[in-house]
Amino acid sequence: MTPEKAREEYARLEQQLEEWNHAYYQEDAPVVDDATYDTARRRALEIEAAYPEFCKPDRVTQRVGAPVSSGFRKSEHRVPMLSLDNVFNLAEFEQFLERINRFLGLSEEDFRGLQFVAEPKIDGLSINLTYVNRQLTIGATRGDGTVGENVTENIRTIDQIPTTLPDDAPDEIEIRGEVFMRKDDFLALNEAMQAAAQRPFANPRNAAAGSLRQLDSKVTRERSLSFFAYAQGFASSPVAATHWDYLEKLQKWGFDVNPLRMRLSHPSDVAAEVDQIGQARATLPYDIDGVVIKLDDLTLQNRLGFVGRAPRWATAWKFPAEQAVTRLNTIEIQVGRTGALTPTAHLAPVNVGGVIVSRATLHNEQEIERKDVRPGDLVRIERAGDVIPKIVARVEEDRARGEKFVFPTHCPVCGALAERAEGEAVLRCTGGLTCRAQIIERLIHFVSRTAMDIEGLGTRSIHELFELGLIEKPGDIFRLAQHRDQIVALEGWGDLSADNLFRAIDARRVIPFARFMYALGIRRIGVRNAQLIARHYRDYETWRQAMKEAAIIGSDARLALGSIVGIGTAIALELVNFFTEPRNLETIEDLRAQLDITPAAEKQEGPFSGKTIVFTGTLTTLTRPEAKAIAERLGAQVSDSVSSKTHLVVTGEKAGSKAKKAQELGIEQIDEVEWRRRAGL
Ligand code: IVH
Repeated sequence: MTPEKAREEYARLEQQLEEWNHAYYQEDAPVVDDATYDTARRRALEIEAAYPEFCKPDRVTQRVGAPVSSGFRKSEHRVPMLSLDNVFNLAEFEQFLERINRFLGLSEEDFRGLQFVAEPKIDGLSINLTYVNRQLTIGATRGDGTVGENVTENIRTIDQIPTTLPDDAPDEIEIRGEVFMRKDDFLALNEAMQAAAQRPFANPRNAAAGSLRQLDSKVTRERSLSFFAYAQGFASSPVAATHWDYLEKLQKWGFDVNPLRMRLSHPSDVAAEVDQIGQARATLPYDIDGVVIKLDDLTLQNRLGFVGRAPRWATAWKFPAEQAVTRLNTIEIQVGRTGALTPTAHLAPVNVGGVIVSRATLHNEQEIERKDVRPGDLVRIERAGDVIPKIVARVEEDRARGEKFVFPTHCPVCGALAERAEGEAVLRCTGGLTCRAQIIERLIHFVSRTAMDIEGLGTRSIHELFELGLIEKPGDIFRLAQHRDQIVALEGWGDLSADNLFRAIDARRVIPFARFMYALGIRRIGVRNAQLIARHYRDYETWRQAMKEAAIIGSDARLALGSIVGIGTAIALELVNFFTEPRNLETIEDLRAQLDITPAAEKQEGPFSGKTIVFTGTLTTLTRPEAKAIAERLGAQVSDSVSSKTHLVVTGEKAGSKAKKAQELGIEQIDEVEWRRRAGL
């Protein structure tokens, strides 16, 4: 693969992962299954391994969840909340063990004596409970791993979560676990919602997330949520020496701890346990999507620490996705925000692992071609826990088949020609802002939670207000109050809802620059890219001017744009194209006039940020990977070779040529003891 091709593919994967993250974490409405997500993430990691220069510090492959954005207060976790890496089979699990072994540098006997705890991986959302002086003070969602949403009042409605701890609990402790909805509670809730003409939830996980994020805790109370405790964060004094004992303690303190947990030592025992839990899966009263395996010894856990977003001491052994067979009735083409034509399959409703499925995605034209599916076919579909299901394959049948599906050459909504960009699989409507579908989808994106986050303006109201001609472009939203009488008179609205909406809109007239940029819905400008670009230009006016100048190839502004770390040529081109479209300019100028766009803050620095460190010689108290991990945690970059760019060389025993070279270059050298001191070990 050429570097140019790699860069393109990487940019595409990044954009995709950002969008999928957004749908999953912000909208509680995932658009792909876990397996598809994992495949894309793994591919991105492969490219990163081959081209380390793509590895910007904040890259999507290393992130947990998504930034907080809602009506809730923020809450910072004392210890970050991590995600887990996955394994799918025994060989991969053994690799996970081998990595632990390499990192800790264990003797063969110690390695064989390692113990693990296996517990079901609950498909809900993780929560951090802070107890101060044995009183529950904060319950927060994971958020981006560092800062979550403070949902304490809602947490208090969950009976299984104790509000006080007994005397033997530490003065301050963070207890973590999963909030989830049982399958039967989920079915009952959806029935009630349907009866009330409300849109039902796609699956129990989304129902749990949606219920916990209610701004009114009375609503949360009516929803039956459950909780299993399974991890620890900060603790002012130690609770136990092993994870197993920690769980036992939690149970004594009144938490529900999963009854299927097991303590195991041999890899084949772990495999057998995964198998067993897998077999019990369908009969369990709640959704699980794998088994989490954790190293039992907490001292070793501490030493192992984490890399990127996942601990080295735990992994999730994922189950294969759940499948079912059903009839494909019709294929419908949907037009997205960026004009992408996506085929959606309408299915005869079928139960897949406890959830009724009636639609599935077919991704694009080639996918239909490759799988050779036609309306009327019997198809095997797959749902991996929390997802929009997909069609795996056609099931062969002994009967006449229907007509082949003919993919449209034009946009089914506006009639504009559909085109496929070079190297891309999707066809896109070329109608831009003349296409109703694109206009509406962009508006929906504009008001969504990670974008402008306008509460009370959901998909349905956008459609409704668009049909009435009250909203045609984003700026119209900020003029809605002029149509108060008309809105109040609409069915289902009234004074209260209308005034709430106007208040929610007014609350967003002051908006951070990055959020504003993201809300515009420019292709390839996901949350993270918007943040990078906002940080570079600092304020809207500077950016706007620079984008105008960047339209000229070879201009300084164009070069500057391309040189922002993490922004490649493909992204730069999308930005420039966006700004050369007169309708887009009109749209943002109109918006600009009604908003106060606040400049981006400067980037925060860590203690060793920007410093390049080289380790050389044999370290006696740490293995090399462990030392490297510690340095990186403190913000340093660790390099293998000494050059004029090196800031510090840590010399172990028998340091050779590298130490000599450092001396020649006049680079500071310290020994292991001094390094430990500076690193605060
Ligand atoms: S341990 C550092 N244990 O899975 C380890 N997580 O993909 C943190 N999850 O964010 C989590 N069941 O939401 C752990 N028994 C379990 C779990 C579990 C479900 C979720 C949790 C976490 C995610 C990671």
